[in-house]
Parts: sequence; C-alpha cells; structure tokens
Amino acid sequence: MKKIAVYPGSFDPITNGHLDILVRSLKTYDEVILLIASNPNKSGKFTVEERKTMILEAFDELGIKNAKVDFTEGLSVNYAKKVGAITMIRGLRAVTDFEYEFQLSAANEFIDPEVDMVFYMSHSEKSFISSSGIDEMYRNGIDISNLVPTSVIKMYQKKYPTK
Ligand code: COA
Repeated sequence: MKKIAVYPGSFDPITNGHLDILVRSLKTYDEVILLIASNPNKSGKFTVEERKTMILEAFDELGIKNAKVDFTEGLSVNYAKKVGAITMIRGLRAVTDFEYEFQLSAANEFIDPEVDMVFYMSHSEKSFISSSGIDEMYRNGIDISNLVPTSVIKMYQKKYPTK
C-alpha cells in the first residue's frame, strides 16, 4: 500500500526550511502532499494560487518528484483521512514550537486518533527561518536568496516590485 503523508501549513511563503523537512520526509513516504491550510489568526500575504505556484516551481527547481500541493478550507486531519494518509508531518524549529505543536497534535488526535503526527527537527542552520521573517527581511532589502527557493524571490519581485 502506498504510504502517503500530509504536511499542512500556511506556506506563506514556502521557505527552504519547509523544503528541507519535505525532502527528508520523502525518504520515508511514497508521496507527501503539502497542504495549504487556513489559519484563522493569519491574514495571508500571498493568495492560495500564488502559494501553489511558488511551491510547484520549487518542486521543479529541486527535482522533487513524489510531492503534490493542495489546499483545504477545512481541517487538515479530515483532509489527511480523505486522501488515505497515515501521517501528518510538522517541523520543529525550537523548544518554542513545541507547546504549540503539542496542542495542535492533541486537537488533531481528538478529531481523529487514526492519523498520527510525525515531527522532524529542523536543521540548525534553518531553525531561525520563518515566513514572516522572510517577509520582513525582503522588505528591508536583505538578500533572502539562501533562505527561499527562486520561485519565492520571483513572486516577491512581481508582487512588491519596489525592492
Ligand atoms: N521552516 C521554516 N519555517 C517554518 C518551519 C520550517 N521547518 N516550520 C514552521 N515554520 C514557520 C512558518 O513559516 C510559519 O511562520 P510565520 O508564523 O512567520 O508565518 C510558522 O512557522 C508556523 O506556521 P505553519 O507551520 O505554517 O503553521 P500555522 O500555525 O500557520 O498553521 C496549520 C498550522 C495550517 C497546519 C493549522 O492551522 C491547520 O491545520 N489548520 C487547518 C485547521 C485545522 O485543522 N486546525 C487544527 C485542529 S482545530
């Protein structure tokens, strides 16, 4: 049976930190679906379509084959169940992520205990990366080319051409 995992997140935008987790998870799973899920506390810098475009171009750029991208307005765990995923993946960058992830994991377990959560530790050199940090750096003229795929830089230049 095909081993499918779902990696949910806002991906607003995707970063090399997310891609590192994805590439490592593909050593274990036959297919990983990056799921753009909605977080009611976040307004969204990029539209879902823009996020998808950046992700798909990053797959091409890095030669990532067994990954897909999708979007849900509902619960991530319901989506995972629907596509037959055995696992949901998340990254942990620091101890500060743990409490949030612990609660999210408990909520997901309450909704559907059959879908397991698996956590990957970020590599230390990527542990400071966040989507909002990328945005702040870009807007302040910092070179972000080592932190995000080329597709993200292209999208920033198109959407915010002043920098
Ligand atoms: N590398 C780089 N950055 C990382 C990272 C990594 N490995 N792991 C997390 N991050 C960053 C993200 O860039 C993001 O940064 P930001 O806050 O500056 O935007 C932050 O960590 C956390 O974002 P993300 O991983 O995208 O999680 P989220 O909290 O925005 O969203 C969902 C979490 C989308 C998975 C969750 O809200 C969800 O599943 N929503 C659907 C509804 C649902 O099922 N809710 C749960 C049950 S009630």
